[in-house]
Amino acid sequence: MTRWLVTGGAGYIGAHVAAALLESGREVTVLDDLSSGHREFVPSRARLHTGSILDREALATTLHDVDGVVHLAGYKYAGASVTRPLHTWRQNVTGTIELLDAMRQQGVARIVFSSSAGVYGTPDVERVTEATPPAPESPYGETKVAGELLLADERARAALDGTAFLGVALRYFNVIGSGDPSIRDTSPHNLVPKVLAALARGEAPQINGDDYATPDGTCVRDWVHVGDVALAHVAAADRMERGMQLESVYNLGSGDGASVREVLGAILRAAGSDAEPKRAPRRPGDPARIVADGTLAARDLDWQMRRSIDAMVASAVAAERR
Ligand SMILES: NC(=O)c1ccc[n+]([C@@H]2O[C@H](COP(=O)([O-])OP(=O)(O)OC[C@H]3O[C@@H](n4cnc5c(N)ncnc54)[C@H](O)[C@@H]3O)[C@@H](O)[C@H]2O)c1
Repeated sequence: MTRWLVTGGAGYIGAHVAAALLESGREVTVLDDLSSGHREFVPSRARLHTGSILDREALATTLHDVDGVVHLAGYKYAGASVTRPLHTWRQNVTGTIELLDAMRQQGVARIVFSSSAGVYGTPDVERVTEATPPAPESPYGETKVAGELLLADERARAALDGTAFLGVALRYFNVIGSGDPSIRDTSPHNLVPKVLAALARGEAPQINGDDYATPDGTCVRDWVHVGDVALAHVAAADRMERGMQLESVYNLGSGDGASVREVLGAILRAAGSDAEPKRAPRRPGDPARIVADGTLAARDLDWQMRRSIDAMVASAVAAERR
């Protein structure tokens, strides 16, 4: 049996990844400073170490005897990163440097890194592929590009040293839903928690911008279920353990888009609300449309869409309501 360290494993996606790794028969250690995560999200069979990836001692302790790392810990608020660039770089880039350095010292040679659609900025293509050049528009997106470059540099270093190092970055698109009703998205900036919070206050949910050049005027996004995202990490861990060749970067996108208005409609249906959404100003830096081609991940990581938008949203609403 192998053991994987999940940094950020008390967070929304990390807790799903930890659960999926356990389900696959692996052991899991979680390193999380609980800055945005929740102790109760960590599966009971995982070992939780409360601490930061910026703390070398915490890294040395938790990397002991692990076979690989899924690195999700970080500051994930693209909009807020504009007002906190140094914090974002420290958490996401200095944190990744410390982690990679500690891995090298302890001979841990496998890492799956959480990257993001934020690396693409505002792409002018129907579907982005892994070959679409990165053009981040926020400190957050920049730090994800930097994380990917760090992995690439470590791969090159290991090739020169003649040592083993496998690193793969998964660029997630709009992660939604819940694979376990006790784990939910608690981000104050994401659509489901925002809409449900507005409804709970008796207010109309907002749509930021309805005059984009899209079919219904609202932004089009590529929505992917958190349970499917988690399974892609297990597939990556599995392929790495078997020494299979992987690409350095994969998009985890559906190839299809749904508008914010459509997803908001699904949320209201699932919540049993007839509230009328109200128009709010555009948010700076929101691209009109971003949809990804997930062909490479489908080929190598068993990546597939297992649920409809309505089913994804219903799982999210059920978890929030709980
Ligand atoms: N949610 C999305 O749609 C999305 C999309 C693309 C990429 N991502 C990336 O996926 C990862 C996980 O996102 P999430 O939605 O689960 O966010 P989250 O905030 O729920 O999870 C992040 C976790 O990392 C922990 N953490 C933060 N800084 C830490 C540090 N210095 N040391 C140890 N732990 C630390 C937090 O406490 C939290 O548990 C992030 O790296 C994020 O950038 C998320």
